[in-house]
Amino acid sequence: MSERVKQIVPELLDEIKGVLKKHKVTFAEYRSAFEYLIGVQEAKEVPLMLDALFNATIVEIENESRKGTRADIQGPYYIDEDYPIVTDELPSRPEDAGAQDMIIRGQVTDLDGTPVAGAMLDIWHSTPDGLYSGIHDNIDRKYYRGRVVTGENGHYCVTSKLPVPYQIPNAGPTGDLLEKHLGRHSWRPAHIHFWARAEGKRDLINQAYFEGGEYVGDDCCDTDHLELVVPEVIEDGARVMEVNFVLEPAQAQLAAE
Ligand SMILES: [Fe+2]
Repeated sequence: MSERVKQIVPELLDEIKGVLKKHKVTFAEYRSAFEYLIGVQEAKEVPLMLDALFNATIVEIENESRKGTRADIQGPYYIDEDYPIVTDELPSRPEDAGAQDMIIRGQVTDLDGTPVAGAMLDIWHSTPDGLYSGIHDNIDRKYYRGRVVTGENGHYCVTSKLPVPYQIPNAGPTGDLLEKHLGRHSWRPAHIHFWARAEGKRDLINQAYFEGGEYVGDDCCDTDHLELVVPEVIEDGARVMEVNFVLEPAQAQLAAE
């Protein structure tokens, strides 16, 4: 790690110094940036800001070495604990009974197209009003989260309720930067998060989007989500999200080949 730090940090600092010199940044401007960063820290928005500005770039770098389905950002709302295995539906809040139904289904295969049985898909998405269980408004963390395991033919299928576009927290310094200073917005298109894992396969964190949905292609988090934009299909009134994943061998295995 320290070799990487020695390699990267001086270059990063030189780039920043170059920009400061290019724009002849004044001491007052420097102090203002200084105060701003203290504000980011005080608002506990360091993770939010870093994710909004840089996570998509790290994913782009990762994708250069991917041979299967490309990755996407994880986002801050994954709950790092064992998700309950669900077989038919992600639990939905009773008050969402009238919300649009959704079917999430698809197949997990390897690079040769062979079905991957026993793959685990952690799935999480927002409520029909754009909130995350376990994170916002004391919504019980059991809702709209679950772990699905693929069957013998690599298929999986669960039902849920349709998520919607939502704003990342925008009342603090990150929102100020995006909206007031850069003239951007703080919205994400509706999406479903996935984390696919299977024995001997490289983990894949991804998101599926709704074709034609608001903010698709105009995500405040700069995601490159051209791959898993799912066309609109309705079955018995439910929006079908057909999401297939191609998992490549784990990196250790790739290196050995
Ligand atoms: Fe999300």
